[in-house]
Amino acid sequence: MAEQAILDSNFKNQYSLKSLSDITSPIQNDLDVFRDFFEEQTDTDIFLLNKIIEYLLRQKGKEIRPTLVFMTARMFGSVDRRSYIAATMIELLHTATLIHDDVVDDADKRRGFLSINKLWKNKAGVLLGDFLLSKGLLIALENREYDMLQILSGAVKNMSEGELRQLKTAKLFNMTEDRYFQIITEKTASLISACCECGATAAGASPEVIRTMKDVGMKIGIAFQIKDDLFDYGLDDIGKPKRNDIQERKVTLPLIKAFEKSSTMETIRIKRLMRKRKKSSRDVNRIVEFVHEKNGLLYAKESMEQYTNEALELLQTLPVSNGQDDFESLARFIINRKK
Ligand code: IPE
Ligand code: IPE
Ligand code: MG
Ligand code: MG
Repeated sequence: MAEQAILDSNFKNQYSLKSLSDITSPIQNDLDVFRDFFEEQTDTDIFLLNKIIEYLLRQKGKEIRPTLVFMTARMFGSVDRRSYIAATMIELLHTATLIHDDVVDDADKRRGFLSINKLWKNKAGVLLGDFLLSKGLLIALENREYDMLQILSGAVKNMSEGELRQLKTAKLFNMTEDRYFQIITEKTASLISACCECGATAAGASPEVIRTMKDVGMKIGIAFQIKDDLFDYGLDDIGKPKRNDIQERKVTLPLIKAFEKSSTMETIRIKRLMRKRKKSSRDVNRIVEFVHEKNGLLYAKESMEQYTNEALELLQTLPVSNGQDDFESLARFIINRKK
């Protein structure tokens, strides 16, 4: 493609991209109801827990999972109490796993603030995570939402398995592209998939639609984690530690792709650096440069875009009544976001 044509198409891409607040404007009211539900559920009379939860509630995430629940529900019916229950459960489970994940990854920053494990130590992070996790699942029981309980208990199990598999693979240093996709499917896509599955369930969609939306969510979730893994090699502030994956010996798609394009000698050299438990900033920079030079980021981006396209093609096969454009914008936002 000629240079000007590339510039034009980049411009068109950027131009048609919407901000998250633009995308969520049709469901603003639903998000407000959800936020109240969420706060109610975190109420406790344990003093220390209350203090930490107060801190937690001040840091807003992007709320992409509740947004996916609502965007799905409105494509196949309307958003009502069942969707609010699903969204609240899911965001509680998500928050719990983030807090646990920061303990596992030894991360000191989350959503632009000091992480719970840094401020209150690992013990408090483990306990708060457990509290939020149990709360998330209890809501389903209290509301007799057994389908959702089944879906979300399965997602939680998959997420723990994914995190454990990642831990083990990093140690043995035997990551392959297949294993990478298995891990991100389990640790991230399973919950994103559950957002779409629960949203369709809450709206009373047919079993066929629910099954397909589960697959749509899985593909969006895979793209979501590839985007997150790309951030670790980028330059921008993302509100959480960068280069932590490298420091923690997490081999992700950009590095896997870079290895594919390298000689055995180069691969051995970089793997040796990667395996070091304490890396100097020079070591880290060499790894980042290697991945950039071998176009690892570009290949990972292509793969991410392909998953999003497949998700949206699958969506085309369904009888959507309204809001398909907004769902599509959200899927595009997920792979173009800045944090
Ligand atoms: C971060 O999820 C964890 C991953 C699965 C990569 P988000 O990027 O959705 O986190 P918040 O909720 O917006 O902070
Ligand atoms: C996703 O993996 C974590 C969960 C599924 C909880 P990461 O470890 O990459 O997430 P971040 O980058 O810490 O948010
Ligand atoms: Mg992490
Ligand atoms: Mg990450």
